Amino acid sequence: MAAALTRRAAAVAAVLATVTSLLAPGAVAQLSPSFYSGSCSSLESIVRSGMVSAVQQEPRMGASILRLFFHDCFVNGCDGSVLLDDSSTLTGEKNAGPNANSLRGFEVIDAIKSRVDAACPGTVSCADILAVAARDGVNLLGGPSWGVPLGRRDARTTTQAAANSNLPSPSSSAATLISAFASKGLDSRDMVALSGAHTIGAARCASFRSRVYNDSNINAGFATRRRQVCPAQGGVGDGNLAPLDAFSSVRFDNGYFRNLLSRFGLLHSDQELFNGGPVDSIAQQYAGNGGAFSADFITAMIKMGNISPLTGSNGEIRNNCRKPN
Ligand code: HEM
Ligand SMILES: *[C@@H]1O[C@H](CO)[C@@H](O)[C@H](O)[C@H]1NC(C)=O
Repeated sequence: MAAALTRRAAAVAAVLATVTSLLAPGAVAQLSPSFYSGSCSSLESIVRSGMVSAVQQEPRMGASILRLFFHDCFVNGCDGSVLLDDSSTLTGEKNAGPNANSLRGFEVIDAIKSRVDAACPGTVSCADILAVAARDGVNLLGGPSWGVPLGRRDARTTTQAAANSNLPSPSSSAATLISAFASKGLDSRDMVALSGAHTIGAARCASFRSRVYNDSNINAGFATRRRQVCPAQGGVGDGNLAPLDAFSSVRFDNGYFRNLLSRFGLLHSDQELFNGGPVDSIAQQYAGNGGAFSADFITAMIKMGNISPLTGSNGEIRNNCRKPN
């Protein structure tokens, strides 16, 4: 009996050790999909209906919210910091280079937050609302769904500098992308799967100008067509948009990877994932197998969502996602 109990305790310890070793460095095993089941059981349905109406109004919004979540998580962890407005006491992330004139969807998060707070006052963080909304954005555009681990709290502050130094640039090489993601505990498979988010949404001419004028690893007809919406001269037409996936930018599928195989990547960084480099075989696998892409995308989204969350008594539950309490 005692021996059996000891064996059982050892087995439990082994399982715990395995679970712990699967976590990103620095992450704490505290997020759980059932975190609000006692305190705000209507959370998921409120977020869902907010995202349904946002995506009905404009399908691209599913993409914009997904990107907001990525930019939140890569800067000081998934702590709602990207949502903070600049103020007299805080210069935040919104006007950092990768974000200014580019991030969108803040009003959608505000609207969902006020409906969540009407049902469960002061209970759910902006960081968690964004995590669930991003999942719903993917799913509403035809992508997979999954249980989102919850329990994040909101940052009280942030800096513009942190956004400028942590967000990868579209001029990045494959090696730079691999190391930028590795520094967040995400391996090359996670990096490639997460880049598949570019199967939805759009980019501005400023982000793809040098790609369509100067890269040689691009389909010639595609480059010509994109030049027509993106004048060569910097500063002219910077905001003109093109779909990140030329063929189905409001459908979350593996089309992004099939495009890469034909040199139809819109960003320089996209085409780096299939350019004779270290991750070509992963891009090829996802191009041929949508199920493998979906499964790895889910795994990687959960890992990304685990980057340094504030938990326990750290941070706060913001009343207004745009400013600290
Ligand atoms: C691998 C490194 C990445 C780079 C260099 C990158 C860069 C960019 C750039 C330059 C844009 C266009 C912005 C503009 O011109 O306004 C963009 C859009 C977008 N990115 Fe990324 N990104 C990366 C990874 C990711 C990840 C990991 C996700 C989410 C999981 C993501 C989701 C999106 C989405 C959905 C859009 C379209 C947003 C919209 O239409 O509003 N990106 N990205
Ligand atoms: C293309 O490269 C040339 C030479 O480096 C540079 O002068 C030019 O500004 C680049 N054009 C664009 C549109 O990036």
